[in-house]
Amino acid sequence: MFGLRTILVCAKNRFSTIKTSWVGRVIHPLTLMMPIDQMHDENEKEVFKRTLNLFDLIAVGLGAIIGAGIFVLVGNAAADFAGPAVILSFVLAGFVALLAALSFAEMSTMVPLAGSSYSFTYATMGEFAAWLLGWDLILENVIAVALVSNGWALYVRTLFTDTLHVNVEESILKSWIGWNQTTESFNRTGFALNLPAAIIVLALTLLLVYDINGSVFVNNIIVIFKVVAILIFIFASIKFIKKENYEPFIPKNEGSSNKFGVSGMFRATTLAFFAYTGFDGITTVAQDTKKSSRNNLPIAILSSFGISAVLYIGFCLALIGVVPYDQLGVVSPVLMAAQKIGMNWLAITIHLAAIASLTSVALINIMVESKILYSMANDGLLPEFLALIYETRRTPYTATIFTGVISAIFASLLPIEFLSEISSIGTLFSYFLVHAGLFIMRWTKNKDVKHSFNFPSRTYVIPILGGIISILLMHTMSKWAKMRFGVWMAVGVIVYFLYGRKKSKLRNRKKKIETVTNIFDTTNANDSIVSKTETYPI
Ligand code: ALA
Repeated sequence: MFGLRTILVCAKNRFSTIKTSWVGRVIHPLTLMMPIDQMHDENEKEVFKRTLNLFDLIAVGLGAIIGAGIFVLVGNAAADFAGPAVILSFVLAGFVALLAALSFAEMSTMVPLAGSSYSFTYATMGEFAAWLLGWDLILENVIAVALVSNGWALYVRTLFTDTLHVNVEESILKSWIGWNQTTESFNRTGFALNLPAAIIVLALTLLLVYDINGSVFVNNIIVIFKVVAILIFIFASIKFIKKENYEPFIPKNEGSSNKFGVSGMFRATTLAFFAYTGFDGITTVAQDTKKSSRNNLPIAILSSFGISAVLYIGFCLALIGVVPYDQLGVVSPVLMAAQKIGMNWLAITIHLAAIASLTSVALINIMVESKILYSMANDGLLPEFLALIYETRRTPYTATIFTGVISAIFASLLPIEFLSEISSIGTLFSYFLVHAGLFIMRWTKNKDVKHSFNFPSRTYVIPILGGIISILLMHTMSKWAKMRFGVWMAVGVIVYFLYGRKKSKLRNRKKKIETVTNIFDTTNANDSIVSKTETYPI
């Protein structure tokens, strides 16, 4: 990597000159960084119960990762875009996710705080970038919760109608406002609200407020159940796999750019990528983790990624082998496969596993979002009430309730397909910032940073490759998704300058210190007490 290092050294020298130019003077105040030592001090505090062990951490990862991606998207991506090559799409998406998992794993050893990637960005790129990331994660997680709870409602309804043959009143199953994809406009659906989606979100919120251990226990049970169900499905399918279902492996492109062919396979890769998201949630429980098992964070991130990758590839092979890909574009492709195998008990088990999986994805996402809100509020960037801790239960109850209520409103009233792609863009943006943060960490050779986990190679390749791929994947998202994401981020910038920047605890603390220093200096120099605070660009 000699060439790369030479380029980086030149860039670093050039960067030093930019720092002193007018551009540097504008940007510099926005890059106020949280010292990593201060974060380590914060981590020493007993804010949350420190009870989670390695198994719990891996389960948190698997709880958030395995969900709609495997139970719904694999089939749809095969039918609409990739055909049997969806298997390859999952391998490629797995590679992108692996790069992110490696960066997150290393990051978790340096900044083991509930704020996760937000805190890491605060330490590497400063307050403004951290704010953008936190703001991005607010939308991403709320939408993820709303999306999976909508999926949950759909699966529960199908369980009642198709499997148990019980009719359910339709008016309480669809959102109040709809979205017409063709005309790109909102419409009234004639339905009241998606009540089951709201109920599950609020129930999970209460569970998280009540007890983190109870929530983790529920998640552990769900994870064991869904992993076992997927394994049963894979092994039960083996006998029914038909070789001809894998042919042609990459069906011929059908004219429109993404319908099959290589371009279709890449389109399916962006969908498959969604299936791997969630391992980053492990880093938000850093402060809930037993002190003795802190080194387990990176192990849990990489294990949960590895386990899900193996399950996903096995699952794709089984599903495509059992059902011809052009029949998989249904609400529950895996249910269809189970029925094809002719085992009714397997169909019901898979159906229940899908419902359980969506439950755990929603649970962990609410928890992740509450931790991010808590951290931002704790730093003064969001209103202080979001940093309140339920004294006896040690849970961030206000942030959790806030997340739950907003997600329930989104899930029950709004057309979630309008916002669905934004969740993936948001995830990619957060991956990009973590890769960038790691790159900066290496570039500035921040030797003071403690790595409690030794990575075999501290190379630049992972953050650079990961960062570039994240941006490229963001670029493949639809124009509307990019625009909506841009609007949300623009609102975030305004809120930062109107609120966050003024209330930032770090900024205000720094101001105070500089004021005192100035008073001290001026007193010494002039024997008079004059404050010069306003001359500091903070
Ligand atoms: N990876 C999660 C899922 O597939 C978000 O549902």
